[in-house]
Amino acid sequence: MSFKDSIERLKKGMNLAPMESGMNPENERTIPYQSAFSNFADFPEYKDFTTMQWYYENQKYTKNQFLKHIGSSDATVDLEGRKLINYSSYNYLALACDERVKNAAIRAVETFGASTGAGRSITGEIDLHQEFENTVCDVLGTEDAVVSVGGYSTNAFTIGYLCRPQDLIIYDELIHNSAIVGCKMTSSKRLSFPHNDYETLDRLLAQNRNKHERVLILAEGVYSMDGDIPDVPRLIEIKKRHKALLMVDEAHSMGVIGPNGLGVVDYFGLNASDIDILYGSMSKAFGTCGGYVAGPKPLIAILKNYAPGVLLYGAAPTPANTAAGLESLRIMRAEPERARRVQANAAYFIEKAREAGLNTYNSRDSGVVPIITRDSEVALWLSIQLFDLGICSFPMLFPIVPRDKSRLRFFLNTNHTKEQIDYTIKCLSDCLAKAPKSKGIM
Ligand SMILES: Cc1ncc(COP(=O)(O)O)c(C=O)c1O
Repeated sequence: MSFKDSIERLKKGMNLAPMESGMNPENERTIPYQSAFSNFADFPEYKDFTTMQWYYENQKYTKNQFLKHIGSSDATVDLEGRKLINYSSYNYLALACDERVKNAAIRAVETFGASTGAGRSITGEIDLHQEFENTVCDVLGTEDAVVSVGGYSTNAFTIGYLCRPQDLIIYDELIHNSAIVGCKMTSSKRLSFPHNDYETLDRLLAQNRNKHERVLILAEGVYSMDGDIPDVPRLIEIKKRHKALLMVDEAHSMGVIGPNGLGVVDYFGLNASDIDILYGSMSKAFGTCGGYVAGPKPLIAILKNYAPGVLLYGAAPTPANTAAGLESLRIMRAEPERARRVQANAAYFIEKAREAGLNTYNSRDSGVVPIITRDSEVALWLSIQLFDLGICSFPMLFPIVPRDKSRLRFFLNTNHTKEQIDYTIKCLSDCLAKAPKSKGIM
């Protein structure tokens, strides 16, 4: 295939495989047979992938994909022998590589083994699970909590279980994919509201509340693409007035925002009981893996005893992950200066970026800072240039974000230095000044 042909295919989007002639003799009413129905290589998704991959390779955009890192990944990372300033790890507090956290995981493996051997309700329970849950309640001020094996799955399955056909889910348009997948598991009516547009949320609730039984509002503590924080007190006021439930995804807020780094409750000085469901992931500031939900006792009882994928029908969180998460949570509470350094680094990054005329969009008070580019290809090109200059930051491209809001996303770390940030901003503005004209493909 020539370069020109490939570009044309890319511009056209999905490449549906050509229809093969003939009907399935077994059943005349079936859809005409296409090899794209039974041969993975002919699936349009695969054809799209290979065409896009071909283009990426041709442009040398694959250079920093799937590189293996050695050692830990925090403010710096050693990628196959090259030490880079690292903005691609959400190990915000550098706890993934903290000796205390690593030792807690090692001790747990020595005590319980690499796995608990079963689901929690059938002999997979270990005291670390309850200790983690009690500490979450202590830190957040919630009545109860449940820890689960995966961050993504905890979010999806919690939403997926709680909402039924007669219910309504109403979510901010920038909500994470795990919440969207959770919504799709339900047969509930689903509505989205424009990002942080509380008037539209209020209006949609006024129009729809009475047609439904449970109404669940979904928001994030920090939006993972834009790095902004919603007005949670306003969401609480709205949800109370409409007798709805509010669920906040704390994946990027817990451990990072607030004077003590303890998430939205700390940031806004809230009563945890005003948020019906506080969901968190352990893969970010906690430096390990897993998810939890914190909230009123009846909610946790329902999730523990009925919700598939939260605790039932799956393995218990591993001893190592649970112990690491627990130790991280204790350190988070004891050492708020770690979160404060993330906040200060992000504020410094934004200040310097704005001085250099770069677009940091809505980011404020969190550890996530985007640098918006003209389109996806510029974002991809820019990430490669930075990579060559010793800086690791990954692009967020269309369709994950709108084309004209393509970006490089920077996760600020507690261990970043001002010198590293100054150098990064200089490289960013030097590179962007010579960004090539886009081909209008991505
Ligand atoms: C906002 C948000 N929610 C949920 C998740 C899922 O968490 P995990 O990485 O623990 O699966 C992520 C992960 O990137 C996220 O960014």
